[in-house]
Amino acid sequence: MKNTILGLGLESSCDETSASVVENGRKILSNRIKSQIDLHKDFFGVVPELASRAHLETINVLVKNALEEAGIGFKDLDYVAATSRPGLVGSLLIALQSAKAISYIMKIPLIAVNHLEAHLYAPFLEGASPEYPCIGLLISGGNCNLYIINGTGNMKLLGKTADDAPGEAFDKVARYLDLGYPGGPLVEKLARESGQKPKLFPKIMADSNDYRFSYSGIKTAVVNYVKENPDADKSDIVFSFQERALELLVRKVYSAAREFGIREILVAGGVAANGRLREMLQKEKKPDEKIIIASPILCTDNAAMIAGIGYQYFIKGKNDPLSVDAEPRV
Ligand code: KG4
Repeated sequence: MKNTILGLGLESSCDETSASVVENGRKILSNRIKSQIDLHKDFFGVVPELASRAHLETINVLVKNALEEAGIGFKDLDYVAATSRPGLVGSLLIALQSAKAISYIMKIPLIAVNHLEAHLYAPFLEGASPEYPCIGLLISGGNCNLYIINGTGNMKLLGKTADDAPGEAFDKVARYLDLGYPGGPLVEKLARESGQKPKLFPKIMADSNDYRFSYSGIKTAVVNYVKENPDADKSDIVFSFQERALELLVRKVYSAAREFGIREILVAGGVAANGRLREMLQKEKKPDEKIIIASPILCTDNAAMIAGIGYQYFIKGKNDPLSVDAEPRV
């Protein structure tokens, strides 16, 4: 095999369009991301039809820019990878069809990627080399999954949310309090302004000792509290909400690591960008345990993680047929 393998990654599963060139699955040569926040913010959530149209308008320019920034052309690519699952099906199709066209014309392997596995690969793009098996916690707007990761394509799901995902709870609480969209960064920022740092809400799933999560109860607790206390300080409310929401993640991730005798813990997905979560994870860590989280920009959706995990499949000889389909669920 050549010494330098160059892969193009494409991502359009939700509300970010992204194209990236990655060398040898590790080194990011470019990572162009176009967020659609402005398009969806008036609706406090992603409008699928608007999202797929915007991906279609943006993707060609992003591919051109990503290749230019990397200083390469289509002819230099060894493979093309795109998210094929899970996501909004109309959105997924844009990156996947683009990747199929590039694969067909350039005669290079097409790698259809599981977006969730790609998120957990993000720290590898910044020099991390976790030892398998490790614990993987994926926390985003649509998912809350806890895994034991044994290697590429080998993830055992220990548990997931029974209802809302944590990012969804951040978004819904922010919407209810009129903070804006997406809620996660706005809640985090406002929580830092809380002077009283009260505990207004009970611990989530206080008696649970399995690996399920639930975020619909805390959301309802916030709504009820605001109805009963319309003049309460919003910063105190979001502080309390955030502490409880994150405490559940910290508790369950460490209990899984300790039950299975695993010392390395990967945390990924949009909610992993949260600074308070990073603090809480570090505080709870024992000296022989290791928390691995990518920089915030690689926690939210991006194509570098797609190109990166794509490389791991490329070197195993994967080449998906052009008939590979977009799948809304994994
Ligand atoms: O992974 P991601 O970009 O997209 C998917 O959901 O697939 O994650 C977006 C989610 C949103 O719900 C957003 O509110 C949340 O991640 N998020 C955060 C933070 N930054 C983004 N949640 C908490 N704290 C943050 N700093």
